[in-house]
Amino acid sequence: MEDQAQALRELMGKREGAQASSGERRASERPPSPSGKKTRIIAVASGKGGVGKTNLSVNMAIAYAKMGKRVIVMDADLGLANVNVMLNMIPKYNLYHVIRKQKTMREIILDTEYGIQIVAGASGFSKIANLTEEERQAFIGELYTLSQADIVIIDTAAGVSNNVLAFVAAADDAIIVTTPEPTAITDAYGIIKIIATEIENLNIGLKLVVNRVKTVTEGRRVAERIINISGQFLNLKVEYLGCIYDDPIVPASVLRQRPFFTQDQKSKASISIAHLVTRIEKTDFADDKGLGRFIKKLFGKD
Ligand SMILES: Nc1ncnc2c1ncn2[C@@H]1O[C@H](COP(=O)(O)OP(=O)(O)O)[C@@H](O)[C@H]1O
Ligand SMILES: [Mg+2]
Repeated sequence: MEDQAQALRELMGKREGAQASSGERRASERPPSPSGKKTRIIAVASGKGGVGKTNLSVNMAIAYAKMGKRVIVMDADLGLANVNVMLNMIPKYNLYHVIRKQKTMREIILDTEYGIQIVAGASGFSKIANLTEEERQAFIGELYTLSQADIVIIDTAAGVSNNVLAFVAAADDAIIVTTPEPTAITDAYGIIKIIATEIENLNIGLKLVVNRVKTVTEGRRVAERIINISGQFLNLKVEYLGCIYDDPIVPASVLRQRPFFTQDQKSKASISIAHLVTRIEKTDFADDKGLGRFIKKLFGKD
């Protein structure tokens, strides 16, 4: 764990122990989300890697924050710690430390300079299977800290590990990201197929986002292909959430480690993100879901 953090620091040219950015500090105590309001859990997944999940997760979170929502982005990508790299931050602790009772959830949630909070969740969830009942209960208790947020966005790893399926099954919304590339389309259908066959009682809406389009028509065409095939062969309803323009601001902002939504809200990519958020807000979000249901689904109990 420490070795990985060390490697990241060196990759990013940071001194050991140095604060990654002025925005990085322990999450301050915040009052909980207004009573009665449920936390909406959005899982972002894809078949193929590199299609834009992390950019979508982070920038959508910032767009939500600008609407006055409290948002936590959980980085559940086991491979690379993308979310924090995009924000130029290096979290010292993650869910693993919470599971091991070395830290509380409150202590590992980090404020950022963009009005969103992040949780490094990666290494934690793969350990859940080995927890004792007492550890599990304690961890579940800690997870409820996330209820301070209105929105929790989970950036998952590409493909269909058990982790990804668990998050997709437990979330209120699952966003599948693809690009117009044939390989990405095939893999998007692949993950939808596995979700449809592996998850019992899938009662969430699968939402499709086509990233890196040249035109709105291109996005719609790609979406229609996937939606039609899913309906025909899997009898599964997939909803088209919208597209994101291919925009040079995206790679540029990744390089600068500053999310594009904060760089230029009038950029094509930012406008696309704002549209997507508006679309999600228009879709139903049943009251009986939220964090309690999420945790119950993840662990099989509350
Ligand atoms: N809308 C876009 N326009 C241009 N390039 C993009 C766009 N979305 C993603 N990219 C490129 O793809 C790369 C991978 O995106 P990322 O969000 O890290 O994907 P993932 O999390 O799915 O692996 C980005 O660094 C960027 O260079
Ligand atoms: Mg990623």
